[in-house]
Amino acid sequence: MRTIELRRVSREFRSADATVAAVSDVSVAVQPGSFTTIVGLSGCGKTTLLRLMAGLIEPTSGILHSDEGPIGIMRHTAALVFQDARLLPWLNVETNLLLALRRERLPRNEARERVSSALSSVGMFSWRSAYPRALSGGMAQRINLARALCRRQKLWLLDEPFSALDAINRRALQTELLRLWSETSPTVVLVTHDVPEAVLLSDRILTMSDGRIISDRSVGLPRPRTPTDHAFGEMVAETFATLG
Ligand SMILES: Nc1ncnc2c1ncn2[C@@H]1O[C@H](COP(=O)(O)OP(=O)(O)OP(=O)(O)O)[C@@H](O)[C@H]1O
Ligand SMILES: [Mg+2]
Repeated sequence: MRTIELRRVSREFRSADATVAAVSDVSVAVQPGSFTTIVGLSGCGKTTLLRLMAGLIEPTSGILHSDEGPIGIMRHTAALVFQDARLLPWLNVETNLLLALRRERLPRNEARERVSSALSSVGMFSWRSAYPRALSGGMAQRINLARALCRRQKLWLLDEPFSALDAINRRALQTELLRLWSETSPTVVLVTHDVPEAVLLSDRILTMSDGRIISDRSVGLPRPRTPTDHAFGEMVAETFATLG
């Protein structure tokens, strides 16, 4: 569990001929153990906001803080799944995951066990000896998720982790993500373009537009949630409406 607090955070990108305000004056506090989803149209600043929370980039102005201390001085200890995540092509799947666990300094047996259980939870255990080139986009995405989750961090920052998956696998992984979340209650911030996914998974939905948070709504529906329920459909429609 980890608290994340942003106070008046902005981030610009400057090039020779233009300045882009990717994130503008965002103030938000994410509660420990909560599941927050960020939605918004392409280019509205979602990935930039997540990279700021991870301490991968510095804000142009404003303050980011967590119960671990200030964010932005060094990379934050979080499980990260980014849109452009890559596995090392010269290592097989299992070794890629073991490498991610190296910093935990676990006994070898325990590390292998964690990797096996993470691979099983995303349905990729039988692919443990495969090399990344043999994986489809959706398979690589499942491995990326397993790689992030096997470290058992208290903060998960997930940027469209299911975007390359077919509907069946997407549904299975959503369920699995919820199961893992309820087991250890990490703080989760997930970016998605899929509004029903946001309603299915999260406690709170933030809508971004032009670098700002323009809507902040809690999802009061009891879990497990059923997409065919009337209240679920209403929440989906209301969230779509915030996208403009
Ligand atoms: N490293 C960078 N250098 C310059 N501009 C950037 C950089 N990263 C992001 N931007 C710009 O900042 C804005 C927000 O980008 P960001 O990647 O955060 O959007 P996004 O909401 O994640 O979009 P998508 O849904 O397409 O992934 C865009 O205008 C983008 O061009
Ligand atoms: Mg993005």
